[in-house]
Amino acid sequence: MYKQILILIIATLFLLPSCKETISVEKDFDFAEKQTKKMLLDLDTIKNMPRSINPDGKLETVGIYDWTSGFFPGNLWYLYEYSHDDFWKKSAEKYTEKLVPVQHYTEQHDLGFMMYCSFGNAYRLTGDKKYKVILANSAKSLSTRFVPAAGVIKSWDFSRSWSGTPWHCPVIIDNMMNLELLFFVSKITNDDKYRKIAVSHADNTLKNHLRDDYSAYHVVNYDTLSGKMTDRGTRQGLADNSAWARGQSWAIYGFTMIYRETKDPKYLDAAKKAADFYLNHPRLPKDLIPYWDFNAGEPGYKSPWGYNSDEFPEIKRDVSAAAVTASALLELSTYVNEKDNRYYKSAEKILDSLQDKYRATPGKDNFILEHSVGDYPRNSEIDVPLVYADYYYLEALIRYNRLKKGEPVV
Ligand code: GLY
Repeated sequence: MYKQILILIIATLFLLPSCKETISVEKDFDFAEKQTKKMLLDLDTIKNMPRSINPDGKLETVGIYDWTSGFFPGNLWYLYEYSHDDFWKKSAEKYTEKLVPVQHYTEQHDLGFMMYCSFGNAYRLTGDKKYKVILANSAKSLSTRFVPAAGVIKSWDFSRSWSGTPWHCPVIIDNMMNLELLFFVSKITNDDKYRKIAVSHADNTLKNHLRDDYSAYHVVNYDTLSGKMTDRGTRQGLADNSAWARGQSWAIYGFTMIYRETKDPKYLDAAKKAADFYLNHPRLPKDLIPYWDFNAGEPGYKSPWGYNSDEFPEIKRDVSAAAVTASALLELSTYVNEKDNRYYKSAEKILDSLQDKYRATPGKDNFILEHSVGDYPRNSEIDVPLVYADYYYLEALIRYNRLKKGEPVV
């Protein structure tokens, strides 16, 4: 009898981990609220937007024209969406309002990140018409960067390859994320102009940014007059031919979102194949949190900026790439008819890993997640919290919660 009970107890203990079916969204939001309340106290004296932590351990903040400025207001809107607590609404309004001047900013392509994550969520959750005008102006500013000959939105005005080739119309894979703003503004203004720009950009990205294995190039440069593609490479990845993890995540998220907006199956196909590249990669760790570049530490990848895996024996993970991917996979899972629900289960696994192993340490910093990589080649933001990792994590949790309740994911 005792023996049988003992066997039963041991079997139950073995089975327990695999019985975990759901992520505790409530616990995650509880933690996010606590951390963000402390962050708000810090910011009271600093005034800027939080981005990361500096090498000295202090909070790194940025002004409103930094590409990351919209994520903190976005985090506050997600906290409001989950809690319905007026405290979060007021905080979100306060931080969103700071970005009003950005609606006229035309010096780089990140208007979508900056304005859609902040004002886009503000409009979605409050319906306040004043936000519509600001979003429409932001789309107008972003579209000034459209280069008709090439059919793309120029990301930066100028850059260079690592070997020194000048790039006058560089487009980075990240730019796919800015298109959501354009689709949205076409809908609210009944003006197809922005949608056409977005589709043109997506088509050229589909043609030129994806390799045969559906890994993404970071940068593609075009000739501004002929519109021809002239060069492909990286600025933030390990090598021109490597797969920078966050770039891959932007591709998965971007093509999934373009499919939502167009229902054109070629984008769904690209989203699935980009996701399969991530999920099937032999170097993807079991917890599904990728190394900062899929090829970091792998022989055969020559880094033009001098990364040498002997010097960096511990290859860092990029939690931000995982958070973006989790959110994207949850949406992607609703567009496919897979018996094994692989995209959904992989997103769930990522959320589980983030909750278990990558949470910020209270007292050390006031972000939600740690262990992201911003820009390895510039030796900047390596193994740190990043505000956009938190943003896509909260978005993924909200999406996960909606799917659990049988609601539409977006
Ligand atoms: N969009 C810039 C980055 O992903 O680092």
